[in-house]
Amino acid sequence: MNRRNAFRNLAAFFAASPLTRGQQDIPDTRERYPALDELVNVFEFEPLCKSRIPKPSYDNIAGGVDNEWSLRHNREAFDRISFRPRVLVNTSRMDLSTTLFGTNLAFPVLIAPTAGHQQAHPQGELATARAAAAAKTVMCVSNNSSYSLEKVAEATNAAKWWQLYPAEDDEATRGLVNRAVSSGYKVIVVTVDVPYLGHRERPLRDAPRAPAVRGEGSRSKRAEEAPAHPYGLQARPSSTWDWTYLARVKDWAKTPVLVKGILTGEDAELAVTHGADGVVVSNHGGRLLDYAPATIDVLPEVVQAAGKKIPVIVDSGFRRGTDILKALAIGASAVQIGRPVLWGLGAYGQPGVEKVLQLLETELALAMGLCGKATIGAIDKSLIRMER
Ligand code: FNR
Ligand code: LAC
Repeated sequence: MNRRNAFRNLAAFFAASPLTRGQQDIPDTRERYPALDELVNVFEFEPLCKSRIPKPSYDNIAGGVDNEWSLRHNREAFDRISFRPRVLVNTSRMDLSTTLFGTNLAFPVLIAPTAGHQQAHPQGELATARAAAAAKTVMCVSNNSSYSLEKVAEATNAAKWWQLYPAEDDEATRGLVNRAVSSGYKVIVVTVDVPYLGHRERPLRDAPRAPAVRGEGSRSKRAEEAPAHPYGLQARPSSTWDWTYLARVKDWAKTPVLVKGILTGEDAELAVTHGADGVVVSNHGGRLLDYAPATIDVLPEVVQAAGKKIPVIVDSGFRRGTDILKALAIGASAVQIGRPVLWGLGAYGQPGVEKVLQLLETELALAMGLCGKATIGAIDKSLIRMER
């Protein structure tokens, strides 16, 4: 049975399955659950993940906010950038490795912090961390992980970073930072783009009172009992923060501290002024402010403002090696991926995450080779043409 026939029969299986009740858009091209090595790009993991996890979990992972304009534009923006490949360059000694904040990466792609990996697989962040170690890259563990930051730290000896959400007061926030640093996390990434939770309509349709993603995680309990907001917003403690907090986190952590959620040159400059060791250009995967710009579109102004002083990492919508190469050419030091990791985890567990990372590494290497670039250091903005 060839691959196409196999996938066609899989559709019949899913259409008859109770699992698909309410999920009428299950892909119609798969016949049996494909073997991992039959998948050819990261997009193929999404429908398989969708077929295996509860609908509310899938909708929480997949969804954006309001019109989902930013979710779509995170992808569409890449189509406005093409390459200027060079020829007759000896690229036979290819090396994609790089180093960030003392952490060696086999290739400049990290796992973005995403909450609640047990939505996708019982092994959750333990499996994801092991996959990151196998791929010789870094996992940034979410403040809202299913497993505690200590348990995830124990999952592998590989370097890990930890993402901080401000807790309800300095004592609680400092406590979280101390737990992460004493568990061996090498970098603290402070997420600053969530003063209020975005209006996510897909999960609301599933169950207005669907339990928020709250695993064992690391959130302090008091953060749960925030008072009602006068306008009904879901305010988060970072709605009380300003730039002065960065110095406090740096003082508590004594590790490199990055600021995640930067979308303007002005804020990139403020991050440098206030001592950030790096920034992550991110619109949270389109999950907060609709009509926030596609990150690849604003990466140039952030690199212009801060890129010569501190490393700039970027995420939101990255799915292809060519996407990653475009960001590196603009001046990013590395890229983070969110949803594809959860797709791989939901579809195949740890091996699925490893395969997603391997596909992206191979696609990046191919794009580099075809552009005449053998190393990350050789990549610069002469490699791309940005449509007006
Ligand atoms: C996220 N993201 C996120 N960011 C963060 O700083 N802390 C968090 O706990 C989470 N949680 C989370 C859950 C889920 C399900 C998603 C999809 C995303 C945002 C994440 O770090 C990253 O910015 C985006 O996921 C990048 O976009 P893509 O790759 O998912 O398109
Ligand atoms: C999210 C929050 C947890 O995007 O960052 O789901």
